Amino acid sequence: MSCLDRSGKSTQSKKLEAHLQKVGYGKVKWMCFPNRKTAIGTAIDLYLRRQLELPDEAVHRLFSANRWEMAKSIVEDLKAGTTIICDRYAFSGVAYSAAKGLDFTWCQSPDRGLPCPDGIFFLYIDEKVGASRANFGDERYENAEMQAEVRNQFKDPRLRAHVNWHDVDGARDKEVIHAEILAAVQKCKASLRSRRS
Ligand code: TYD
Ligand code: MG
Repeated sequence: MSCLDRSGKSTQSKKLEAHLQKVGYGKVKWMCFPNRKTAIGTAIDLYLRRQLELPDEAVHRLFSANRWEMAKSIVEDLKAGTTIICDRYAFSGVAYSAAKGLDFTWCQSPDRGLPCPDGIFFLYIDEKVGASRANFGDERYENAEMQAEVRNQFKDPRLRAHVNWHDVDGARDKEVIHAEILAAVQKCKASLRSRRS
């Protein structure tokens, strides 16, 4: 899942995980980026909580390196048949850094070669809806101007090229959103199965 802050992505990604576990989908794993628990993630966490200042280019590469830290284990899990649900990925990395003024293509380059998701769900919400949600404003990037610019960057066709992208209206009831995502996941799974057989 890919999104703006306070759009409900954590809720939705965890609901999807719980549902797939319940219906016996096989092994399912939830993960998120940034993964604040690794060494690189610790620096990212300090940066986001404004306790560390870093140049935009450096922090961009740290976010990407934080994904590369997990790449090997993601590939191993996928090979073992595990379904991975991820709360943010490289798409957020590009949209947030490009929103700060970094070159879009430059932003995409460090993530080239990472495992590519079978489906991406972009939960979009109005700035006002995001700002009214709990805890908005605590961290770096959680302000209306930045979110508006991130929203623009997420529209860029270069982000959506060659991937299975779904725009999801995040302002609706969470059960309605969940049902929509689930239907798309099932469709995606069916088409992957038919391609393999
Ligand atoms: P977020 O998903 O909001 O983390 P949490 O659920 O722990 O609050 O991510 C934190 C911030 O990091 C968010 O504003 C988006 C930003 N971000 C980037 O700038 N680049 C990236 O590559 C990623 C994954 C996130
Ligand atoms: Mg956040």
